[in-house]
Amino acid sequence: MTNAGDNGNALIQVENLQVFFPITAGLFQRRVGEVRAVDDITFEIRKGETLGLVGESGCGKSTTGRALIRLREATGGSVRFDGTDLTQLSTRELRRLRRRMQIIFQDPYSSLNPRMTVGSIISEPIETHNLAANKQAKMQRVRELLALVGLNPNYTNRYPHEFSGGQRQRIGIARALAVEPEFIVCDEPISALDVSIQAQVLNLLIELREQFGLTYLFIAHDLSVVRHISDRVGVMYLGKLVELGPPTAIYETPGHPYTRALLSAVPIPDPKAERRRKRVILTGDVPSPANPPSGCRFHTRCWLYEQLGRPENCRTEDPELRVVATDHRAACHYAEEALQSDVGVAHIAGEQPQRRAFGTGVGVAPVAPVAATAVAEPPPADGDGQSTKTG
Ligand SMILES: Nc1ncnc2c1ncn2[C@@H]1O[C@H](COP(=O)(O)OP(=O)(O)OP(=O)(O)O)[C@@H](O)[C@H]1O
Ligand code: SF4
Ligand SMILES: [Mg+2]
Repeated sequence: MTNAGDNGNALIQVENLQVFFPITAGLFQRRVGEVRAVDDITFEIRKGETLGLVGESGCGKSTTGRALIRLREATGGSVRFDGTDLTQLSTRELRRLRRRMQIIFQDPYSSLNPRMTVGSIISEPIETHNLAANKQAKMQRVRELLALVGLNPNYTNRYPHEFSGGQRQRIGIARALAVEPEFIVCDEPISALDVSIQAQVLNLLIELREQFGLTYLFIAHDLSVVRHISDRVGVMYLGKLVELGPPTAIYETPGHPYTRALLSAVPIPDPKAERRRKRVILTGDVPSPANPPSGCRFHTRCWLYEQLGRPENCRTEDPELRVVATDHRAACHYAEEALQSDVGVAHIAGEQPQRRAFGTGVGVAPVAPVAATAVAEPPPADGDGQSTKTG
């Protein structure tokens, strides 16, 4: 079977995307190699869906997210947004389309200009895209956006340093929403926040998604958070997408040995289940993306490769991301064996909230906010006396 996107209702279609960074040396900055941060990945993000993206540090998650909205130029392949190939657009055409796609960064401290007031930070994209008739309408919109993300609408004249981390992330979210986007890359949006604040910001993102029918690429390290928010999950290893499927498939019947190894590292709170579980410890360092292993990039650390007696095709043939079950793809020559294995499955909690059916384009049902299972109960408010109520 092919690895091409198989859904006609895709908002984002990524085909054979590559993003390489040059390695230079010497006085004349001669190119001596390249970091293959993203190396030939193909997938789609469906309208209204949240696609979670996980994988070890440096595997190419952020580079993928940025390339999807052309904050990073692709070295090869294409990214289609609602049918338009972003990689072929002129700067002017791209600016027009940019309005429909935004990004929320991990670090709410460095992503907001400390010399600008909150009002100017949020109104900047409104001005850039001419979205308000006059100054009064613009400031009214800024106040609406602050209220929408659970902040006091009268905070427009304050500076970022006057806010807590969670509040700053809310300002970043308000700025992203200012242009009424359809697609948002959320690059580790809660990782830098206090545990007590993480659930609040996660719930805010879920509420906003439901209210505005947003499509997210949600990048995170925390597998429970990703399970909680995602409709499908992608797993990356060393610049490759190695598995893609709904959370039940990825977390309960993973078809890639790497996914099983990742899950195996997550502790289970139930001591009985923890004792029963077969763990695999990933040995060896992550190889360099400047010089990835031949064949399957995971073969230097793969427990199944060892178990199977080191089959030659693992070292010589790069496995394609192929269908292994309904809506479930894995890039392993021995995915069938991996599927049968009882290694590593952690039964990570994180029930999916009731969601609409994708692909119908109708019936966006409001969903009550749910406390994230992975994080502590949030305090009543994020230190600002405001609720996270939207609208
Ligand atoms: N601007 C750059 N120049 C050179 N190499 C880069 C650049 N940005 C990223 N890389 C390299 O590309 C690879 C992928 O980086 P990326 O930031 O996408 O990983 P990531 O999965 O987001 O990691 P993390 O979980 O730590 O955020 C890494 O090896 C990184 O060092
Ligand atoms: S193709 Fe071989 S080395 Fe790669 S994940 Fe599968 S079993 Fe392991
Ligand atoms: Mg990153």
